[in-house]
Amino acid sequence: MKGLILSGGKGTRLYPLTYTRAKQLMPVANKPVLFRVIEAIRDAGISEIGIILGDTGPELREAVGNGDRWGVRITYIPQSAPLGLAHAVKTAQPFIGEDRFVTFLGDNVIQGGISSLISDFANHTEWSSQIVLTKVENPQQYGVAILGEDGRISQLVEKPKQYISDLALVGVYMFDHHIFEAADAIKPSWRNELEITDAIQWLVENGFNVYPHVHKGWWIDTGKPNDMLRANSYVLEELTPALRGTIDDKSSVDARVTVEAGAEIINSVIRGPAIIGEHTRIVNSYVGPFTSIYHHCTIENCEIEYSIVLENSTVRDVDARILDSLIGRNVEIGRAPARPKALKLTLADNSKLGIQ
Ligand code: G1P
Repeated sequence: MKGLILSGGKGTRLYPLTYTRAKQLMPVANKPVLFRVIEAIRDAGISEIGIILGDTGPELREAVGNGDRWGVRITYIPQSAPLGLAHAVKTAQPFIGEDRFVTFLGDNVIQGGISSLISDFANHTEWSSQIVLTKVENPQQYGVAILGEDGRISQLVEKPKQYISDLALVGVYMFDHHIFEAADAIKPSWRNELEITDAIQWLVENGFNVYPHVHKGWWIDTGKPNDMLRANSYVLEELTPALRGTIDDKSSVDARVTVEAGAEIINSVIRGPAIIGEHTRIVNSYVGPFTSIYHHCTIENCEIEYSIVLENSTVRDVDARILDSLIGRNVEIGRAPARPKALKLTLADNSKLGIQ
């Protein structure tokens, strides 16, 4: 089996953070989502992985490299234009050949990995496709599937306007080479994309076996800021804590906290689950649960909870507690040195600032 990660897309719903960084490289619990996807595929025993690239290709290539560090071989496959997931899969045909493969959206995080799924599909060579589904409250935002009485999938619809099912496609798909035929046969949707959901529906209509796998744990498509924070909180809950940095006598650090090498905790309280990245300093501060502070940051004289702070940022002398926040790279938040006493802001386009 081979792995295929779809990492095109502009990440507009995460602006302004994704003006300067590919959405797949946004970290949850201090590790880029894409790296978590590569590890999930590697842990399922797959070592040949293709990554479909869009406009952010150069940045992704540089961050991921040739795959040596995970013991896998990465092949990069540029997509000519963002014409949909089925188009992306079709672009990978020369890489996949006649192999069976798993397709994983590069900005999705799924609890428990995909090892059992992969072996299920590997054991059923008569299946052309297996699709991971999960119950959602807002099915109109996803592709959804109806299950037939024979246990197979009987119908799929992308973003249904009328309710037909609350089982959504979660962005993990197993295929054999018939999916290429399907991608060639379908027409673009209203959003001018070749939808993978329509390609799978074509398989169903043309008599191929498409089976479901209903996923019971959590799954998050990290498209929006709230989803990033939620994914961060779930992954932090599952992290095995480790204390590699230094913690002074005046600090109190919970059991479920990871402090990376070179980090310093000084006169501070850290409530888990939380992670403090390499060479980050937490001074006279409270870092609350479900918070990830990335590497080379300084948090001083402030309180922060249920938030993500990216690398090289400084948050200092803030009176109010920072909550539910996503703070980008090289950001400086602090007190202005001179009067007038006022808010002095330099915010990127599409920034959001909540002041009470
Ligand atoms: C895409 C798929 C959809 C699937 C979703 C999962 O939607 O088209 O079928 O349910 O990913 O995240 P999009 O993110 O392109 O709206």
